[in-house]
Amino acid sequence: MRVLVTYGSKRGGTEGIARRIAETLRDEGLDVELHPPEDIDEVSAYDAVIVGGALYANRWFRSARHFVHRHAQKLRERPVWFFSSGPLDDTAEQHEIAPTAQVQVLLSQVGARGHMTFGGRLEKDAKGFIAHAMARTHAGDWRDSGHIQRWARSVAAELRPEREGFPAPVESAPEAPSP
Ligand SMILES: Cc1cc2nc3c(=O)[nH]c(=O)nc-3n(C[C@H](O)[C@H](O)[C@H](O)COP(=O)(O)O)c2cc1C
Repeated sequence: MRVLVTYGSKRGGTEGIARRIAETLRDEGLDVELHPPEDIDEVSAYDAVIVGGALYANRWFRSARHFVHRHAQKLRERPVWFFSSGPLDDTAEQHEIAPTAQVQVLLSQVGARGHMTFGGRLEKDAKGFIAHAMARTHAGDWRDSGHIQRWARSVAAELRPEREGFPAPVESAPEAPSP
């Protein structure tokens, strides 16, 4: 069971979440690769894929969106999970936040099995006019390791039966001795 974890991240916060997911899946015994979407030419080599995107104005950062469009057909043929990283407060820990409309479209394009929104991060010295202005009131790190690990373990649990070849092959009854 070889799993790809990939992420569209503009300022590194979502990459950190993806790294934590990859570590957790490895601890659960899975063979995991972590790559930015632009480094992936082909997803055929993977049995399962986890794609994450940073939310900017309710849309995934473009490299994550483009990855899903580029590989939609192959993604439809394997188990896929999505995560979004965004809210600059603790709402993602208070209750499950549904995917945004744009992410919902991507989810249905590939028949993703699940989605989770995690808190985001914005650094005080964020570059970019709007980000810099937002950082005056919203700088902080709301990525919650426990939340990320629990979700990654739930994905590992869903993959485990497939890894072990579930359903188990039926053992043939011992042959009756010939008369
Ligand atoms: C200009 C701007 C727009 C944002 N828009 C959203 C948004 O629509 N929804 C949301 O939950 N978070 C939003 N955020 C917060 C980011 O998603 C958060 O900072 C995220 O962790 C960024 O990920 P990255 O560091 O991987 O780029 C926005 C942040 C900035 C700077």
